[in-house]
Amino acid sequence: MLEVRDLMVFYENALAVNDLSLEVRQGEVVGVFGSNSAGKTTLLNTVAGLTLHLQQRERRKGGMRITLGGAIRLDGEEIGGLSPRARVERGVVLCRERHPVFRDNTVEENLTLGAYLRPSGELKRGLESVYELFPPLVALRKRKAGMLSGGEKEMVAIGTALMARPRLLLMDEPLLGLSPLMQAEVVRGARAIARRGVTILISEQYARPILPIIDRGYVIENGALVVSGTGAELLDNPEVKSAYFGV
Ligand SMILES: Nc1ncnc2c1ncn2[C@@H]1O[C@H](COP(=O)(O)OP(=O)(O)O)[C@@H](O)[C@H]1O
Ligand SMILES: [Mg+2]
Repeated sequence: MLEVRDLMVFYENALAVNDLSLEVRQGEVVGVFGSNSAGKTTLLNTVAGLTLHLQQRERRKGGMRITLGGAIRLDGEEIGGLSPRARVERGVVLCRERHPVFRDNTVEENLTLGAYLRPSGELKRGLESVYELFPPLVALRKRKAGMLSGGEKEMVAIGTALMARPRLLLMDEPLLGLSPLMQAEVVRGARAIARRGVTILISEQYARPILPIIDRGYVIENGALVVSGTGAELLDNPEVKSAYFGV
């Protein structure tokens, strides 16, 4: 479904993604693991089109130079030159890191914003399906999103992404900063999303909490691929195991 070939991202002179290739097949849940600054966010932002958007904005301002290289293909079609919006329309939707929400808007307003490219007739069913997935949000519907806990905000952020009806959902460190209980809730949510037929590419610093739901994973360091394989194969690699599985 998604094929990333020889992807390169330079910010000014810093190499954030270095000749990275990976693939996500239809129906898979694929993990990308790497420490802080490994390039996880840059990878997902580049697949979603945000890096291209930033590059174009910086060019107009005469600011930071961003250089992009490589190919990003969705179902065989090159999408690396498309706007973020055009990628959303093709079903590629990003849930950004640190559970961003519109703080002064209610939970339901946040979710509704996620559906801005969808026909309005879908809204009700979309909301119902997010509330089915994350029942704690029902009681919080009218609450300002800024008042929520980190875990609740993450549910809103994921729910907002789902309102855009992704075929490929990109999740950037959804577990970051959450309690173990909330992490379990988000992992359960991700599994349920996958069961609904959504393909998922998920980044995390540590692999262990999402090991039960991934089909395969890639470990990256300094923007470059270190090793890839099934969860069991990654666990078999002693260095990977100590660095990314916390054992
Ligand atoms: N907007 C940016 N401008 C300049 N450098 C950036 C920017 N975003 C990320 N970087 C650099 O790119 C590298 C990869 O960062 P990032 O993709 O955020 O990694 P991760 O998400 O794995 O922590 C880091 O060295 C970071 O400092
Ligand atoms: Mg990041």
